[in-house]
Parts: sequence; C-alpha cells; structure tokens
Amino acid sequence: MKKILILMAHPTLERSRIQSVLINEIRDLPGVQIHDLYEAYPDLDINVEYEKCILNRADVIIFQHPFYWYSAPAILKQWMDLVLEYRWAYGPGGLALSGKWCLNAISTGGSHGAYREDGHNRFPIRTLLTPFDQTAHLCKMHYLAPFVIHSVNHLRSEDIKAKAREYRLVIQMLQIGDLDLELWKSADYINPIIEQLIQP
Ligand SMILES: Cc1cc2nc3c(=O)[nH]c(=O)nc-3n(C[C@H](O)[C@H](O)[C@H](O)COP(=O)(O)O)c2cc1C
Repeated sequence: MKKILILMAHPTLERSRIQSVLINEIRDLPGVQIHDLYEAYPDLDINVEYEKCILNRADVIIFQHPFYWYSAPAILKQWMDLVLEYRWAYGPGGLALSGKWCLNAISTGGSHGAYREDGHNRFPIRTLLTPFDQTAHLCKMHYLAPFVIHSVNHLRSEDIKAKAREYRLVIQMLQIGDLDLELWKSADYINPIIEQLIQP
C-alpha cells in the first residue's frame, strides 16, 4: 500500500469550515501521515532534516490548503524554499523525490466558472498551480490533477461532508495505487473522473 503524506497548510485551521472537515475525514486511515505545518512551525522555522525524513518515507505527497491569493498559504512556500534542496530534490544526484506522486488538495472561494479564461479569475486552476506542477516535474515527481472544492461560501454542511467523503475516496485510491496515472496527470481536476481512474 502506498504511504501518503499530507502537508497541511492552514494558518487558522481552528476556524476552518472546509479544510478541517477534509482532514478529519481521513484521520483514521492507516498509512496516512497528516503533518500540520503551521502547528509544527508557528514561527516558520522549518526543521529541514525532519521534513526530508518524512518525505523519504512517503510515496505520495499532498499539499492540502485553502487557495490563498491564487496560491498557497505562506508556509508552503517557505517549506519549498528550505526543504527542496539542490542535489537532494533536484540537480546532480538530487533524486530523493524521484518517482513519487504529488498533488494539491485545495478549496477556493471562487466558483468553477470563475476559473476560466472568460471568468472573473481569468485563469484555470491548473494554470495557477503551474509552480507546483513544474516544481514536481523538476524533482522528477508525477504531478497529478488537483482535488478542488469551489464556491466554499455556498456549501451547506452536508455538501461539505459529501466532498470530504470524496476526498477520503481519493486518498484510498492513491493508497491502492493501481490507477490510470496518465489520465490523472492530464485531467484538469480529479473530482469528476474519480471512478474512471480505477484500472479495469
Ligand atoms: C488570505 C486569503 C486569500 C484568499 N485568496 C483566494 C483566492 O485567491 N481565490 C479564491 O478562490 N479564494 C480565496 N480565498 C478564499 C479561501 O480559499 C477560502 O476561504 C477557503 O478555501 C475556505 O477554507 P477553510 O474554511 O478551510 O478556511 C482567500 C481567503 C483568504 C483568507
């Protein structure tokens, strides 16, 4: 079974409506390590050796976070700046993350329609996530289409619970690992194609 590492980045998880439900839905899954970055490093003073150690053990790395200013909360950038070292994550001999799978699991205030070229936010989510995609690529990881929850302010609590169950299913599918990886890599979102990903 593939080992999953969730890098959770939410500066106020105690006030969260969406991300806290997602994370609670997967807490009991064996083989899933949830690493709350703001809880571990409230001063952004990241323990690089510890991070490398848990990355080494993981097969799948999930950046789970609310979408903030078309990107992630600041700690995730700090994490990338410090942990993804030359000659370790990339560059000559930098193969530590090679072959691992990587994706973002995000929630957004904006609607699906807002993230189109003719929409309010002008760019599709996958385009806005390009820095994650290319970082994963540089580190020789497989970057998979994101799990996205849109229009968070319009969701009722039962909608959020349904999305969280979908997220749990995605994590369980990643654990099993026998997936159509090429389809997942090329999609815009994982959400609408979850069922199709399972290999016949
Ligand atoms: C600082 C900040 C920046 C945000 N930036 C965006 C954004 O760029 N695009 C968007 O769709 N929503 C944006 N939002 C809305 C959040 O994505 C949304 O509130 C969050 O996903 C809800 O999850 P939570 O209940 O777990 O906090 C922003 C919210 C905050 C507080």
